[in-house]
Amino acid sequence: AFTSRVFSGIQPSGDLHLGNYLGAIRRFVPLQDTHETIYCVVDMHAITVWQDPDDLRRATREVAAAFIAAGVDPKRSIVFNQSQVIQHAELAWVFNCVARMGWMQRMTQFKDKAGKNSEAVSLGLLAYPSLMAADILLYKATQVPVGDDQKQHLELTRDIAAKFNNDYAKSIADQGLDAEFFPITEPLIAGPATRIMSLRDGTKKMSKSDPSDQSRISLLDDADAISKKIKKATTDPEPLPETVEGLAGRAEADNLVGIYAALSDKTKVEVIAEYGGKGWGAFKPALADLAVAQLAPMSNEMRRLIEDTTTIDAILRDGAERARAIAEKTMVDVRNIVGF
Ligand code: ADP
Ligand code: NA
Repeated sequence: AFTSRVFSGIQPSGDLHLGNYLGAIRRFVPLQDTHETIYCVVDMHAITVWQDPDDLRRATREVAAAFIAAGVDPKRSIVFNQSQVIQHAELAWVFNCVARMGWMQRMTQFKDKAGKNSEAVSLGLLAYPSLMAADILLYKATQVPVGDDQKQHLELTRDIAAKFNNDYAKSIADQGLDAEFFPITEPLIAGPATRIMSLRDGTKKMSKSDPSDQSRISLLDDADAISKKIKKATTDPEPLPETVEGLAGRAEADNLVGIYAALSDKTKVEVIAEYGGKGWGAFKPALADLAVAQLAPMSNEMRRLIEDTTTIDAILRDGAERARAIAEKTMVDVRNIVGF
């Protein structure tokens, strides 16, 4: 009953990095050939933790520029920012009343971000997955390309969809609507780069919110910065293993081999076939060259687009208009179902 529609979002909350690119943005491009695609700059998610307003405006354009520079075509895809389509907030409120407190409190990302001080974080940080469910389900998206870190949130989206369909089953039928009003969305998590780790600590994921900018390759880093960060990346002293199984228990080595595999469209097995037994002195420069070659064209285009605010703003305005048309159609039904 549902068209094959993809939705994904990125927060404008700091430097976009290699993890965002390999885990999400790069995968947005080929999906345009096979699916209806909607890509969103989720600025309302970003303010769950404090954002300076001018930084937020700049970062919003930066994420949109990254989408376009990576190959998202704003004519074929809908590209917009979340706050411009107010239906996201409206549906999120309904979902706040469908989801249970315990579901939110169990989310590992909330526990990680809140730390020991969970009484002092914003209420929005706790409710974040409810807004994410609204982002996806407003468009009745059937698939969501995300990194592995978002898997648990996506399961919660599925739980919210199922509970809404069930709680309101009678009303949905009374409105003459399909019993599966909201789809049970599938995650698209695939390839060797579903979870890129920090270059400083193989146990932490590469993240915008890591205080050390040496921990991530920013999509705006120049060739020199990329090379330096890779060459200084923390590793154990052993050479690369002879077989891919030898990467087990070697988080940093596994991460760098995974990055190489993703950037060269190879498997880790193929990378090990080439570099197994070689030392870091051989592997790191090769990885640095590969990263520079793969990222530089996008980086240059991103820098050009960031300066061209008129073009970016026009793309976001047009995208918001097209997104709003779909979102409002869903909300007309939701309001009737709920009894508003
Ligand atoms: P961040 O966690 O850096 O703030 P977001 O929450 O905005 O990034 O996530 C945007 C997208 O990038 C999501 O699809 C997320 O799964 C993906 N992503 C974020 N960090 C990584 C990573 N280290 N490896 C792979 N994908 C990632
Ligand atoms: Na994240």
